Amino acid sequence: MSRPQTTSPVIVALDFPSEQETIQLVERLDPSLCRLKVGKELFTRCGPALVKQLVDKDFDVFLDLKYHDIPNTVARACEAAADLGVWMLNVHALGGEKMMSAAREAVSRNGTEAPLLIAVTWLTSSGQAELDARGLNTTPQQMVSRLAGMTQNAGLAGVVCSAQEAPMLREQMGEDFLLVTPGIRLADAEKDDQCRVVTPEKAMQDGSSYLVIGRPITQADDPCQVLQRINNDLANI
Ligand code: C5P
Repeated sequence: MSRPQTTSPVIVALDFPSEQETIQLVERLDPSLCRLKVGKELFTRCGPALVKQLVDKDFDVFLDLKYHDIPNTVARACEAAADLGVWMLNVHALGGEKMMSAAREAVSRNGTEAPLLIAVTWLTSSGQAELDARGLNTTPQQMVSRLAGMTQNAGLAGVVCSAQEAPMLREQMGEDFLLVTPGIRLADAEKDDQCRVVTPEKAMQDGSSYLVIGRPITQADDPCQVLQRINNDLANI
């Protein structure tokens, strides 16, 4: 069953350890104002039932579990995620084109209801030292570019990337490729543990399609007000 989608590019990261804290926040949000992201911590604690609960509240849910395994296992996991009714899910591009193609085929069985399938390239927490340690003779930027190319070849809809990588990837991958970017902070806010941050406006101007925003919204006194402020600012660019 299709439902009206929000026009907001904001995906709120639900980085909570319990259902109670998650629902407390979600009840202050509205599916017409944002989408939601469920990652490994929350999923491991609360499981598919919570994901279904969010879907049933009419939110578009990005299930951020970054699958990476043999192609058949990843395909079956993606199929299970699609059955939950999620809007978006992801795999690791490092799993290779065969794995990504198997995942794409698995989710596309859901036809027009198929979730968007994207890939994580080279994690922003890993830099040159991590490439060197693995004997990979390349730079993080080349790695991101190469993995994004593989993702497109496998027919996936886009990648998760840092806002810093967005201009390069937008040019390389064309207009239709989705770029989903975390590391977003409001101009006047704390950076928390994020090192390189950009504002929502800058990220969109640089080519992002969706913005993953956690603490600036989830830890705010009035999360809905912050969300509306971001949406209003973005409507004016
Ligand atoms: O609270 P904050 O806005 O920093 O949350 C960002 C979200 O995006 C978290 O769920 C984090 O795991 C995720 N993320 C990230 N950097 C990446 C990939 C994902 O911050 N490179």
